[in-house]
Amino acid sequence: KIEGIIFDLDGVIVDTAVYHFRAWKKLADEMGFSFTEDDNERLKGVSRMESLRILLEIGNKEVSEEEKKMLAEKKNKIYVESISGMGKEEILPGVMNFIQELKEEKIPFSLGSASKNAPLILKNIGLYHSFDAVVDGNDVAKAKPAPQVFLLGAEKLQVNPEGCIVFEDAQSGIEAAKAAGMFAVAVGEQAKLKGADYYITSMEHLTLADLKKAAVH
Ligand code: G6P
Ligand code: MG
Repeated sequence: KIEGIIFDLDGVIVDTAVYHFRAWKKLADEMGFSFTEDDNERLKGVSRMESLRILLEIGNKEVSEEEKKMLAEKKNKIYVESISGMGKEEILPGVMNFIQELKEEKIPFSLGSASKNAPLILKNIGLYHSFDAVVDGNDVAKAKPAPQVFLLGAEKLQVNPEGCIVFEDAQSGIEAAKAAGMFAVAVGEQAKLKGADYYITSMEHLTLADLKKAAVH
């Protein structure tokens, strides 16, 4: 039985992955190394500081702790500016219909995002109050692939982890969902995402009936 649903934000509800990418790329450009969309896959679902660590590894750069703090702040400033104009129209296709179905069937749902900017984005797209709970990068000490962010979501929804279905577009998120004992739905290219229980290319055309069928197996 489906007891609750947990959505990742970036890449599932909205396509902010591209804004994250552009902001990191700007840093890489300024430091004089290349950073591609393929490299960016490694940053999806990963916390801000861990993303920076990976970026610096890709660029083969060693910097002081102080400089790391500065770089992370700089990236975030660029990112926040790029999402400031976001509105409802950026909600990905299929999301609103699916949420509507969940409401009709009274299945509670929460957000499980690594982003500290998640509340701001949800407010910008007018969905903050639709969620029964919001868990984001401000609430957890251990980021994905640790299961904490999703376990806390289940707790807030007052449901069992085994009854939860997680929607994720990132490898780290799928691993976190599996570590939490949940059913993991990968949103995106199957070849890039390993270990999920069910694959969809986007939220578009997804129905609760399909999901129920998939989740009993
Ligand atoms: C999401 C994104 C990551 C991002 C992380 C932290 O999980 O997929 O690319 O690094 O959130 O975001 P933040 O807004 O806190 O920097
Ligand atoms: Mg994501």
